[in-house]
Amino acid sequence: MDQTKIILHRDYQIGPVDPRIFGGFLEHIGRAVYEGVFEPQSRHADEFGFRKDVLGNLKPLLFTAMRYPGGNFASGYHWLDGVGPRSSRPVVKELASLSIEPNQFGTDEFIRLTRIMGWIPMITVNLGTGTPEEACNWVEYCNSPVGTKYSNLRVENGAIDPFGVKLWCLGNEMDGPWQLGHVPADQYAIRAQQAGKMMKDTDPSIELVFCGSCEHTIPTYMEWDRIVLEHVGDYADYISLHRYVGNGKGDTADYLAVTNSIDQQIEEMDTVCRYAQARARSKKRPYLCFDEWNVWYRTQNSESVNGHGKFAQHLVEEEYNLEDALVVAGFLNSFIRHANVVKIANLAQIVNVIAPILIHGDGILLQSIYYPFLIYSQRREGLALRPVIQGPGYESSNYGFVHMIDTSAILGNGVLHTFLINRSEEESANVEIIPGGIQLKSIHSAELVTGTSSKAKNTFEKPNTIKNHPFKNIILKDGHATVHLPPLSIAAISFSIAD
Ligand code: AHR
Repeated sequence: MDQTKIILHRDYQIGPVDPRIFGGFLEHIGRAVYEGVFEPQSRHADEFGFRKDVLGNLKPLLFTAMRYPGGNFASGYHWLDGVGPRSSRPVVKELASLSIEPNQFGTDEFIRLTRIMGWIPMITVNLGTGTPEEACNWVEYCNSPVGTKYSNLRVENGAIDPFGVKLWCLGNEMDGPWQLGHVPADQYAIRAQQAGKMMKDTDPSIELVFCGSCEHTIPTYMEWDRIVLEHVGDYADYISLHRYVGNGKGDTADYLAVTNSIDQQIEEMDTVCRYAQARARSKKRPYLCFDEWNVWYRTQNSESVNGHGKFAQHLVEEEYNLEDALVVAGFLNSFIRHANVVKIANLAQIVNVIAPILIHGDGILLQSIYYPFLIYSQRREGLALRPVIQGPGYESSNYGFVHMIDTSAILGNGVLHTFLINRSEEESANVEIIPGGIQLKSIHSAELVTGTSSKAKNTFEKPNTIKNHPFKNIILKDGHATVHLPPLSIAAISFSIAD
């Protein structure tokens, strides 16, 4: 049996974990909004039209920053269409997913939803077909006190107090040729700087996310980011990055090693941020906003994002299995290991569309990827520690060497949270956790997600194949913990520690 040692020293600190790395993403695409969170005609709807049963299952995931309304959708969206009396909102053609958008859910509904759920609203403005002025007006609508044109409109629509939206994304994937209004980096940079300036002039307390490279494989990777950051200078609080991964080649060992490449993408994006800061001799460093990430490959084709001119079609409804859950946990480990640079991350998405929750009529399915997010999200407070890992591993086909165990750790108040993934398809692993400057007193809580094969998944007929279970295979002796991990498993273990 494989033996791995993980050394966790109190002084090997990466930085505080920003709770916003446990963010989500709600886009007007397919059945994410309509027939997802919002379905007034459902028997499960509350007085506002939200699906209580769906919200009840989203609640335990403890999402923080919730990005809205897109995604590609944002680049053709005019926010004024989505406010005011519902009966007078226009039905429009939606070109990002070739669908129909009835505008029955807009800014006010989104803000209400974030308040019910305790989410932090994060809005993406339209820098594709929209103007800097339209973006600035949206900030005024959301954040200005009553007394001006757009804040008065908000009041007319029923909200006297400003919404206080602090996080604003300046467009979406503007480097992608598929994006409505896509332009070269220098033109985007001018547009975004103009919008950002007006938006910050309207509310200086907001934070701005500029579009960075949406794929590490895109030809303009890094160069786009350099041009944008050099142009916008200190306006940039964050630059965005996106990543979707998959097992298209049917090579599980390689797929599970993709974390190396996620680490690399983060480090490369951080490098360009530091380069731009150094070139500008600025005191301000832009941080990373990983505002779309997930597994997505089975439904990543043009037909899957084509609504054929209809409303709320079944678009990109990916079905997830156990190996996907391990990869989702790997993303989270990577974000925690880079807590000093990744400040926001948004699981794309939350319901139906590449999501942990799938709805069929009245039925709700919690997919495999629901569970790693659940067991990590509940253990997120504290300082990320830099783990030292010794143990076996393998050379993957595309991503180099990886240890058999992937890990991250958070030192909280009186508690040490450790996260372990066993990548092996056949072998159990013994993992020894060796603390330094930390005294493990007892096991506070421990959960495991695993299954009988990499392809095992939850279905509406068998919904509990993959889920979290209490985890008992941990021995605490002489201040060390020994954990016995089954193959293809994810463990989240919290130890009570001496102060
Ligand atoms: O999340 C689905 C789509 O993926 C988003 O609309 C877009 O930003 C990305 O390409």
